[in-house]
Amino acid sequence: MLDRRKFMKTSSLAGTALCCGLVGLTSNCTAIQYLDATLEDQTMSVEKSQWTEGEFVLVRNPRLPAPIYLRKNDDNYTALLLECTHKQCEVRPGTQVLKCPCHGSEFSNSGQVLTGPAEKDLISFQTWHDQTHIHLR
Ligand code: FES
Repeated sequence: MLDRRKFMKTSSLAGTALCCGLVGLTSNCTAIQYLDATLEDQTMSVEKSQWTEGEFVLVRNPRLPAPIYLRKNDDNYTALLLECTHKQCEVRPGTQVLKCPCHGSEFSNSGQVLTGPAEKDLISFQTWHDQTHIHLR
């Protein structure tokens, strides 16, 4: 049986997760779009037409340990695995800085470590695109 303190803590967390999960919000309440990637021959692909808003999207695939942060820069794309290189917590996306909620590491939006304890940059993917799709490997 939950005591009052545990119940309040659990209810509060569930409410935040539910609210953020339903409307796709980050910790600073910016809308985030999720795209599902197909995987074929070790290449993930997302349809450009599904990317309807924002400077970045999060790419999901069941085989990934964490979402991929996909950001458009002019005519190229940056793709970073949102798995912290310190102890593998899921890093929270942002337009400029990506933050790890576990021990406070921060990464630039191109994946470089800005603040430890992480010492290695985020894993990045090679990207290329055609008329209809963005591909990641
Ligand atoms: S797991 Fe990210 S800072 Fe420790």
